[in-house]
Amino acid sequence: MTLKNLLALVVLIGVVGASYVEAYENSESNPYTRDGLYLGYYRSKCPQVEYIVRRVTYQYVSANPTLAAALLRMHFHDCFVRGCDGSILITSPNKDAERDAPPNLSLKGFEVVNAVKSAIESECPGVVSCADVLALVARDAVLVIRGPWWPVPLGRRDGRISNISEANLPSPFSNVDTLKKNFSDKGLNTKDLVVLSGAHTIGVSSCALINRRIYNFTGKGDFDPAMDPNYVNILKERCPPTDFTTSVDMDPTSADKFDSHYFDTVYQNKGLFISDSTLLNDWETRLYIKTQVFTQGYYFNRDFSESMVKLGSVQILTGNQGEIRSRCDLVN
Ligand code: HEM
Ligand SMILES: *[C@@H]1O[C@H](CO)[C@@H](O)[C@H](O)[C@H]1NC(C)=O
Ligand SMILES: *[C@@H]1O[C@H](CO)[C@@H](O)[C@H](O)[C@H]1NC(C)=O
Ligand SMILES: *[C@@H]1O[C@H](CO)[C@@H](O)[C@H](O)[C@H]1NC(C)=O
Ligand SMILES: *[C@@H]1O[C@H](CO)[C@@H](O)[C@H](O)[C@H]1NC(C)=O
Repeated sequence: MTLKNLLALVVLIGVVGASYVEAYENSESNPYTRDGLYLGYYRSKCPQVEYIVRRVTYQYVSANPTLAAALLRMHFHDCFVRGCDGSILITSPNKDAERDAPPNLSLKGFEVVNAVKSAIESECPGVVSCADVLALVARDAVLVIRGPWWPVPLGRRDGRISNISEANLPSPFSNVDTLKKNFSDKGLNTKDLVVLSGAHTIGVSSCALINRRIYNFTGKGDFDPAMDPNYVNILKERCPPTDFTTSVDMDPTSADKFDSHYFDTVYQNKGLFISDSTLLNDWETRLYIKTQVFTQGYYFNRDFSESMVKLGSVQILTGNQGEIRSRCDLVN
């Protein structure tokens, strides 16, 4: 292709892209309006917001791709505790905020969100919520590692409460019935559960969380029979009995790639947590896993996008609720 043709193509894509965005910016005709959130929410007050988020997120995540998993997980944690209100970002001098709770173990990437927020504040102060910033950062971080894209309807307001005692998240030791209940309490169905668990296609876990499962499952020095014995041996090499700090990939052989390989892993009884392997014990989640395995993830990106949009609107604050924080780590 000549340079001229290439330029023409770039311009064309730009025009089509712009008119697509245009068509969906209006809240009434917007298929991505969810519970008061909509695309183009900052169109007049901070039109460059998505551009700033993309630029700063790219800087950080391209330099350290492991941040993509961390930021996606941070958005999930935010949404599951008091809704997607940015409360996971708040620090407390007394170490009693959500982010100080045990499930935070490996939460990282706060510096990315703070850097994005300050870049936005210098362009449009007091306009864009931290909850929206985190939702956009999570999406763009996944895009940097060439994962799926999803639309992020905007307009979330920031919460003012972040309490360590409320930070109970779905447990990696839970069975599928408990997980289904936990998700349905947030308005997410069984399909969302299995689709979003597919996020474990990237990232790592601490050995501490699987120690019992591989060394002392019932207190008799045994391992979980739901796990492939050969895989248990591999994990034992990575995680010696008293090692509680080393990390292991959640989706071995493809941990830095956002693909549907997680479902193959689970199907082969190599799901790292009980909460992963238990997805084989319910007919609906099992069927979804099998379908992903046999279609090589044909619909996974589309499904993941849809479920992320739902996750991003869990128990949000809108209108006059909450506030627009000026710093993400502190309430105003
Ligand atoms: C179904 C319930 C879920 C449970 C029980 C669960 C549990 C966990 C646990 C225990 C870890 C390891 C944390 C550590 O080592 O400190 C983890 C990591 C992770 N989780 Fe989940 N999770 C669930 C759902 C989700 C969802 C819905 C998402 C996102 C949409 C998600 C994204 C991630 C990511 C990306 C990581 C890797 C983090 C990193 O490498 O820094 N998880 N999860
Ligand atoms: C996570 O919580 C522990 C206490 O449970 C705390 O010591 C640690 O600093 C927290 N980590 C982050 C990243 O906030
Ligand atoms: C956190 O929650 C606990 C239990 O609900 C409550 O006793 C405590 O006052 C709360 N702390 C803050 C700072 O709101
Ligand atoms: C999940 O559901 C179980 C069973 O109802 C409940 O005990 C647990 O507290 C729930 N966890 C969360 C994070 O909602
Ligand atoms: C295994 O679990 C049992 C029961 O919880 C405990 O008494 C025992 O010390 C554990 N063994 C090891 C090696 O941790």
